[in-house]
Amino acid sequence: MSIPFTFYTPTKILFGRGRLRELGTLINRLGDKALLVTGRTFARRYGYIESLTSSMEGSGVKVSVFDSVEQNPSFETVELGSSLGKNSNVDFIVGFGGGSVIDAAKAIALLCVKGGDLRSYIYPYVVEDEVLPVVAIPTTCGTGSEVTRYSLLSDLKAKRKVVIAGYPLTPKIAVIDPDVLKHLPASLTVYTALDAFSHAIEAYWSKSSQPLSDLFALECMKIILRDLKGASYKPEARGSLHYASLLGGLAINCAGTTVIHGLGYYLTTHHEVHHGLANSIFLPLAVIFNASEVLDKILRLLDYLGFEYETADEAVNKLVETIVKVKNELGVPTNLRSLGVKEDEIDVFIYETMQYKRNLENNPRVVSEEDVRRFFIKVF
Ligand SMILES: [Fe+2]
Repeated sequence: MSIPFTFYTPTKILFGRGRLRELGTLINRLGDKALLVTGRTFARRYGYIESLTSSMEGSGVKVSVFDSVEQNPSFETVELGSSLGKNSNVDFIVGFGGGSVIDAAKAIALLCVKGGDLRSYIYPYVVEDEVLPVVAIPTTCGTGSEVTRYSLLSDLKAKRKVVIAGYPLTPKIAVIDPDVLKHLPASLTVYTALDAFSHAIEAYWSKSSQPLSDLFALECMKIILRDLKGASYKPEARGSLHYASLLGGLAINCAGTTVIHGLGYYLTTHHEVHHGLANSIFLPLAVIFNASEVLDKILRLLDYLGFEYETADEAVNKLVETIVKVKNELGVPTNLRSLGVKEDEIDVFIYETMQYKRNLENNPRVVSEEDVRRFFIKVF
């Protein structure tokens, strides 16, 4: 081993069923006032707002609640949350929810300290100053946001996903308690896990991949291919998916995402397609597209999965077939038409997709406009 690499993760990770009960003691040292950030329904419907609040108040922490985060959070939502945080003079943020909530929590933590216009922090700006500490509690099994330095937000006017990035945004504490997944509908379990799978395969073949992110990615993919089907209808079997999504998060935190996320964003911003589902649409084709550039890695993945093959072509086909089979067995849509996309959107799709340079430039194979056109036509 002589490949130079840097690995850094500042998150204290607590994993296991029932660990949410430790929240009160965990947050003791973070301050006296917390802002609990959640979505609009889940936390309230299942009594988590009350249980989390009383657990924190039991430790002498005063809690304000911001429960207005929507799917794909907007600047406006983050600004509202940060106003509440600033007015309540909070010391730290607790994000309880899916990736949208945790991403919003990070941006709120930034605005509470730095103030100003949220748009001025969009990448290529890199956050380097400390923000309020974030405690992340993921309630889906895909985002990995509990350990990443990214906050993905939606610019509603431009209909575009933007990212705010920087190590200070990384949560200080992640509490991953698979018990919370028992409420997750089967479809969301599948879609979020496919997002985690996309994180893993993209980090694995990305230009920024490194030995440790490869390890996280390999194990993440193995677990999801093995357990997704069973866990989709058996809530008690979802612990391994929660673990896999953590691994996917650790992988992209080092290595970033690539062409799949770049292609998927349009479906979410223009058709409100779930982020994980949007990625999964392009997943099989992306494997074929990138295969020639990362053949050695695909063979290593196949070996890791315990698959047998005789030629490199056979290995690539086997990986693609496996992904397609898992998707089909779970009834995951496979084409754009079924998601409401119209054929004449192709030029807008190409234009919008080419704006996600951060993702496309991290892809092992150069992605041209013509390539994006072919992706659209093939999955239409
Ligand atoms: Fe993602």
